[in-house]
Amino acid sequence: MTARKKPKVYITRKLPDAVETRMRELFDAQLNIDDIVRTPEQLMQAMKTADVLVPTVTDRIDSAMIEAAGPQLKLIASFSNGVDHIDVDAAAKKGITVTNTPNVLTEDTADMTMVLIFAVLRRLIEGSRVLTESPGSWPGWSPTWMLGRRIGGKRIGIVGMGRIGTAVARRAKAFGLSIHYHNRSRVNLATEEELEATYWDSLDQMLARVDIVSVNCPSTPATFHLLSARRLALMQPSSIIVNTARGDIIDEAALIQLLREGKIAGAGLDVFSNEPLVNPKLLKLAHEGKTVLLPHMGSATIEGRIDMGDKVIINIRTFFDGHRPPNRVLPSRL
Ligand code: DGY
Repeated sequence: MTARKKPKVYITRKLPDAVETRMRELFDAQLNIDDIVRTPEQLMQAMKTADVLVPTVTDRIDSAMIEAAGPQLKLIASFSNGVDHIDVDAAAKKGITVTNTPNVLTEDTADMTMVLIFAVLRRLIEGSRVLTESPGSWPGWSPTWMLGRRIGGKRIGIVGMGRIGTAVARRAKAFGLSIHYHNRSRVNLATEEELEATYWDSLDQMLARVDIVSVNCPSTPATFHLLSARRLALMQPSSIIVNTARGDIIDEAALIQLLREGKIAGAGLDVFSNEPLVNPKLLKLAHEGKTVLLPHMGSATIEGRIDMGDKVIINIRTFFDGHRPPNRVLPSRL
């Protein structure tokens, strides 16, 4: 029996060692040891020779690149949960299968959402900075200094009650928050009952009534600037917003203005409109204690990254064994 030729797999970024080792064993893997972000030209070149492209959220794979890909490219096995960086429609039209890595980022991202809620409401970064940036300036405990806001008893409004939104709701409930959510469709009754969650068909109405808005929906054409200037203006002046999903779901310029005018009390952002660039106005607000900013770290755990790599490997192997890969992304589902 002749050994099957290993698929040629082009991986755009450095992955955890354990994942790269396994990929080298199983595939004709082209790695990116230096982790220098590939240019669109380099990616297009790779798409002319590789059987599989393994991009991440930092690679934009648009319709022109897919159009120009060689006929050997059969699979884009993204090392990501979100697929907004890939033109999935164009891939489907060209007969290229797209897969992602769902589920394994859910709990880590939900944890980070709670971290941001706590960091904003309890002023964690401001407090820490007093000690690290101006040692000796701490006057000692005071009854009226560095006061934040209590978490328990507040209302959280979750925008997008998928896997991550639901995981956020579970955590939020445990911390004594009451759960409100807006979603394309209502979640099943058992989940609603478990979470004692209130469904809002109208996002506008929910935004006006909650204390914390958590953005947990995917980025799609339908959710671009879902939190528009008009909608953000509906939030209460004492409320805060956190985003661990994608920057373009919020109109960032409008958010900055409302924060500046004191019409929204604070924001915790892990994602931005123009990553890796961050609007300097947001940085200024961070220095004033009005925002907590993180560099897209929501899913950044060692365990999570290894799980993501395992999913990519399973998707590639299943595909080349002639089966439907478990995490196939269908344009109709986006
Ligand atoms: C993803 O994979 O979509 C995440 O945003 C990475 O954190």
